[in-house]
Amino acid sequence: MSAYDLIVIGAGPGGYVAAIRAAQLGMKVACVEGRGALGGTCLNVGCIPSKALLTSSAKYAELSHISAHGIAVEGASLDLGVLMARKNKIVGDLTKGIGFLFKKNGVDHIEGWASIPAPGQVQVGEDSYTAKNILMATGSEPATLPGVEIDEVDVLSSTGALALKAVPEHLVVIGAGVIGLELGQVWSRLGSKVTVVEYLDRILPGIDGEIAKLSQRALSKRGLKFQLGRALKTIEKGTNGLTLTLDRVGKDKVEQIEAEKVLIAIGRRPVTRGLGLEDLGVSINARGFIEVDERFSTSVPGIFAIGDCVPGPMLAHKAEEDGVACVEMLAGEHGHVDYNTVPGVVYTDPEVASVGQTEEALKEAGAEYISGKFAFMANSRARSTGETDGAVKVLATPEGKILGAHICGAHGGDLIAELVLAMTKGATIEEVARTCHAHPAMGEAVKEACLDALGRAIHA
Ligand code: NAI
Repeated sequence: MSAYDLIVIGAGPGGYVAAIRAAQLGMKVACVEGRGALGGTCLNVGCIPSKALLTSSAKYAELSHISAHGIAVEGASLDLGVLMARKNKIVGDLTKGIGFLFKKNGVDHIEGWASIPAPGQVQVGEDSYTAKNILMATGSEPATLPGVEIDEVDVLSSTGALALKAVPEHLVVIGAGVIGLELGQVWSRLGSKVTVVEYLDRILPGIDGEIAKLSQRALSKRGLKFQLGRALKTIEKGTNGLTLTLDRVGKDKVEQIEAEKVLIAIGRRPVTRGLGLEDLGVSINARGFIEVDERFSTSVPGIFAIGDCVPGPMLAHKAEEDGVACVEMLAGEHGHVDYNTVPGVVYTDPEVASVGQTEEALKEAGAEYISGKFAFMANSRARSTGETDGAVKVLATPEGKILGAHICGAHGGDLIAELVLAMTKGATIEEVARTCHAHPAMGEAVKEACLDALGRAIHA
């Protein structure tokens, strides 16, 4: 029986980063992973492969509207096999890289599915291990709807939609959230007709409403069709494809829509099964998430949990922050995650990036705030690259403390970093506005949005 200071269960971004940081802090660490490859959902069937497909599909789509630059491309064609092979190689290289990082940092990689028979014990197949502390980083999986079976052939989760062997004629996406929009745009750019069906009367719940509207307008312009206020009821398989029955929300009405493939992207749920948590008495909330305190401790001493399997945003970078803070506290150091400054990025074209509070949340809380906005249409770099859709929006206290920042626009995922840093370091909109920004650059829109909040935008 091997004895460890810490056993981490799950080698996604939360688990593998926590394992490496714990080893750096001098702990004897093992990380258990049941999936064939390291890296969890993010590297294998999430963030990384989707970004590879988004990039490839963007290059293909660009060829069709490059004529405005005076460039004509004839005979452009798509080899989906090569495109997918490129994605698979990126995933393979990165997941192998984690194995290398484990060796370099002296983290033992245990292959198999783990359970926790008792505090301080981990079972993997026939093998038993002991650990002073156990950290669960077991992540999440796609949620399904009652009566809808995901076969990954016709009815897909994100996993199936990342590995299609042919471009579907009509892809219906259920859910206008992050996954639905990113993968919807991939297949739209590759030639599918894409219809996005959304329960709510808006896309991207949780994102500032004004910015979500800009995103919807831009995505519609690029070919995505939206059917809002509709909930999927049933999917029937026929000889000529799928028939979906949709409920018109709030109206006593149903509709039918035909599709070749359907992507179910209605959210993700935490993975906790098989760990033995019920027998251990680990508290789980009504939505299936493991309950933890500010030290990431579960209700059972010595057992901790981080990332997607605990409440909070389901984001790889949030899981990493959780993991590092948790093991630093285990090592007697100070660990802290400020969830108000965790950015979120949707990698569509245009990108949507967000940090802190939305205007809706501030209104609901009755908070006093000022806001500033700057459209990329008035940004000279955006005009020269042709990426004029969208805007930067900042929200601040009347004294200028930044409460939230929201961007719809090209490179929004990179631009948000400046505002995340400003919020983290307590910089005011006045300080961001007085920071010298290179010209011409998309980042000038951030400066101008802050100036606008102060009533002195120059270019608007
Ligand atoms: P989501 O929660 O972002 O969106 C799900 C959407 O489905 C919601 O708009 C919801 O109203 C709608 N919906 C639910 N039931 C429905 C029904 N019966 N009919 C029609 N619409 C319905 O979930 P999503 O996109 O599946 O993403 C899951 C998680 O993965 C999210 O927490 C997200 O943050 C994370 N993720 C993050 C990425 C990133 O950071 N770029 C990329 C992909 C996923």
